[in-house]
Amino acid sequence: MILFGILKSTLVASTSPWRLLARNYKVTVVGAGGGIGQPLSLLIRQNAGIRELALHDINEIKGIATDLSHISMPGRVTSFVGESELEAAVSGANVVVVAAGKPRLPGMEREQLMAANGVVAAKVASAVSVACPGTLLAFITNPINMIVPTAAEILKANGVFDPRRLFGITTLDVVRAKKFIGTAMGKDPRHVDITVIGGHAGTTILPLISTCKPKYVDEDKQIEKMVHRIQEAGTEVVEAKAGSGSATLSMAFAGAQFVDALLRGIRGHEGVVECAFVASELTEAPFFASNVELGQYGVKRYLDMPQLSEMEMEALAKLLPILRKSAEEGIEFARKYLKELEETVPTALPKAQ
Ligand code: LMR
Repeated sequence: MILFGILKSTLVASTSPWRLLARNYKVTVVGAGGGIGQPLSLLIRQNAGIRELALHDINEIKGIATDLSHISMPGRVTSFVGESELEAAVSGANVVVVAAGKPRLPGMEREQLMAANGVVAAKVASAVSVACPGTLLAFITNPINMIVPTAAEILKANGVFDPRRLFGITTLDVVRAKKFIGTAMGKDPRHVDITVIGGHAGTTILPLISTCKPKYVDEDKQIEKMVHRIQEAGTEVVEAKAGSGSATLSMAFAGAQFVDALLRGIRGHEGVVECAFVASELTEAPFFASNVELGQYGVKRYLDMPQLSEMEMEALAKLLPILRKSAEEGIEFARKYLKELEETVPTALPKAQ
């Protein structure tokens, strides 16, 4: 019996057929009590492969964890509160997904959230560096175009940065593109396949309409309108919510889809391809959203840039300097954060009396 147990765990760790069956993963949701965090946790809870779903928030979330723990799915739900429990929350996690932070209000651009949300990225990346440097770390928190470079810089400063393991979740841009194009073509959106590249703010979101399957054919003006709708869809929700926040439910749908893809990659499924904002050498922007194949250690392969139409090439040329600037600002934020931390933390302990 003991021998069988040892043999089974060795097989689970080493060969993919066993890994496909294993319920052995820990996923941590940071910001689990918020507008995105709650539905996201609910959707992740439906994944049968999870051993532990750890919920973290700055506010009490014991009730939410207890609630989710009653769902008839395998695995347990744990809760962690406050900064002091962040490292414990992420410790041992295979995936950490971050939805914490402030949402946009009408009239705001995502970049304006950096002052409030940059520190979230810095703190989570610091906790991951100490407690779980091998995890796959995925951010929903805006502004993604700056938050991911900030987190990368913190991980670098701590000597644990692995570009394959850090993600900005841009799945909602793909979800929206599929829905809007599907509706325009009278097709089931689930059967629309489209790549969205660039970043996650305004004109940096570049849906590659020319790659759409089935083919989306329309006059240039109509295509421009479609691109604009996808780029401004987040603002459409912010305005419709009229001051009570931004997309939460569709974002949770997209976030859960991405987490599921990460877990399928970890489990050894083949051909798991998702669009994500990652450290990249595909263009001159150091961080860029494109299709990546996911595997056991995060990004397994960066897919080549598809053939772009003339219109798309022009849009790409315009968005790259914006992404470069956002990355610089994100990195600068991290450096300032680290410097301030250094100045406030005493370098040596006071001598014992
Ligand atoms: C979205 O795209 O809905 C999110 O990034 C939230 C926002 O501020 O638009």
